[in-house]
Amino acid sequence: MCGIIGYVGYQEAQNLLLDSLHRLEYRGYDSAGIAVLEEGEITIRKKSGRVQELGHLISQQPLKGHLGIGHTRWATHGEVNDTNSHPHIGGDNEVCLVHNGVIENYTSLRKSLKEKGFEFITTTDSEVVAHLLAHEYRRAVSKGGEAGSQKSCLVAIQSTLLQLKGTYGIAVLFRDCPDVMYVARVGSPLVIGIGDHEHFVASDASPLAVHTEEVVYLSDNEIAVLTADDIQIIHRDSGIVDPKIEVLEQTAAESELGEFEHYMLKEIFEQPQSIENAMRGRFNEDEATAVFGGLNMSAKDIRKVDRIVLTACGTSWHAGLVGEYLLEEFARIPTEVEYASELRYRNPPMSENTMIFAITQSGETADTLAAMRECKRKGHPTLAICNVVGSTIAREADGGIYLHAGPEVGVASTKAFTSQVTVLTLLALYFGRMRHLSYPAGSRIIRHLKEMPRIIEETLKCHEMVKYVADKYAKNNNFLYLGRLYNFPVALEGALKLKEISYIHAEGYPAAEMKHGPLALVDEVTPSVFVVPKCGIYPKVISNLEEVKARKGPVIAIACKGDDKIAELADDVIFVPDVEEYLQPLVTSIPLQLLSYHIALHRGCNVDRPRNLAKSVTVE
Ligand code: F6R
Repeated sequence: MCGIIGYVGYQEAQNLLLDSLHRLEYRGYDSAGIAVLEEGEITIRKKSGRVQELGHLISQQPLKGHLGIGHTRWATHGEVNDTNSHPHIGGDNEVCLVHNGVIENYTSLRKSLKEKGFEFITTTDSEVVAHLLAHEYRRAVSKGGEAGSQKSCLVAIQSTLLQLKGTYGIAVLFRDCPDVMYVARVGSPLVIGIGDHEHFVASDASPLAVHTEEVVYLSDNEIAVLTADDIQIIHRDSGIVDPKIEVLEQTAAESELGEFEHYMLKEIFEQPQSIENAMRGRFNEDEATAVFGGLNMSAKDIRKVDRIVLTACGTSWHAGLVGEYLLEEFARIPTEVEYASELRYRNPPMSENTMIFAITQSGETADTLAAMRECKRKGHPTLAICNVVGSTIAREADGGIYLHAGPEVGVASTKAFTSQVTVLTLLALYFGRMRHLSYPAGSRIIRHLKEMPRIIEETLKCHEMVKYVADKYAKNNNFLYLGRLYNFPVALEGALKLKEISYIHAEGYPAAEMKHGPLALVDEVTPSVFVVPKCGIYPKVISNLEEVKARKGPVIAIACKGDDKIAELADDVIFVPDVEEYLQPLVTSIPLQLLSYHIALHRGCNVDRPRNLAKSVTVE
């Protein structure tokens, strides 16, 4: 949430910052701004609305300079307007800052700064940090520090950060220190890009891949001092740290739209490949099991695990629900799925051998990170199932499994979900083969999994039918999504997808729960999307469907090819390939992703940038 960018080097900063903000826009699109430092003056351009609006402003009022910072905002404190947009000025144009995160003690800091004569023009928490920096800088100089020296600026930053409560990723310019950019973080990600006589900073690697392959992931409580030719990292407690330079796995091309109109559609159609990537190199066919390079636990310790907790938010939480069914069925390990936002503050009893998996696409979700830290603190082995390499959760976990899905740019998660489910299936196979699962059963799972990329390709052929159904129902303002067993989480995920990108109210339920309340919502206009592929309890789901039909509710069915019966019952049917029950979420989620995409398009919604949302939720 909120995207930060910074540049120091030999190139003109303005266009580079603007291009990077376009690439970071999925992190927030309430407003955008940049500041450039040139000839001892900080100049700012900022505007509410999309980065495109900022682009228009800059084309009329360009900025010159080789050092600059930028920001794309997802508003937390203070309404969306030009003034509240970042960057913010501290003191008398002495300091300039962009901030991602939340300053919890901003009210008291604001009060004390006002008493000292600082004037506030915004209603944000971030402006407090800018003024505090100016105040601490003046103090450092008044105590004998050299004005404009790196040392005085660093002292100002260090004393400021000590007073902040909350989370921050910041990039700072000091007017008196014309060649240096300062960045720091607690709880909000920052990646430094190492160039040739230039340095970059960004909230994530996506804007850096066009400029460099070498990056340094900043850790909590670290400050980086960046000039064109130098990088210095200082940790709050341990002092100067050697920068650990890593090679970026991501290429710039992976984040391009290509032939697709939207990232969401592109990412839906990437799923045959992303699922294949999630499985690549992870089968041991001789032993009919899965292999993972990064669990960092001995087989002996893994065998001791007597309970698994999967923790996540949103779509990743839905993937966790599928994981629960898989792990309990194949490995017979009691598994629970916890909302990370609840787990972080709850204190559920956990046996010594409870193993935790944090499931996350971005690896930066604040609640998931906090829940993971809480479990680590209590001594549980805590692993990550994560997409973004080098993200905070990936780095802090005891071990983990990468999804290798490639960058997911659309705010609505699609390919990350199916990759998470794929990895969880592999995990269930792995744990299962250490316990109760037979060799033939393990071999069968591997055989079925290997067919999935081709089957997903086949599933995507439902696209035309989905478009037809979307056109027919796009004007409805309420939807129900219903499924059972493995398809219950799919129903929840289908409802979430529709809500978030088309702003239609949708509810997901286990189909049999209808008669305990939600059936009252059924009328002649409210469509019920039944996820009803062939399964052990198919007749039961059909009975639930009949209960809706009996009340004249329109029914859209997601069913297996060749299911003639369903065509007689449902108003519309989207057929998908018939696969084993435990693999159905991979297949049945796809028409639901496409359905939400086309309904949203039909209603004129911005599918990649839904209102009020942003990717990578780094605030609590
Ligand atoms: C929905 C969606 C969100 C995320 C949630 C967790 O389409 O994308 O619900 O799934 O914010 O994000 P990650 O997986 O990055 O932790």
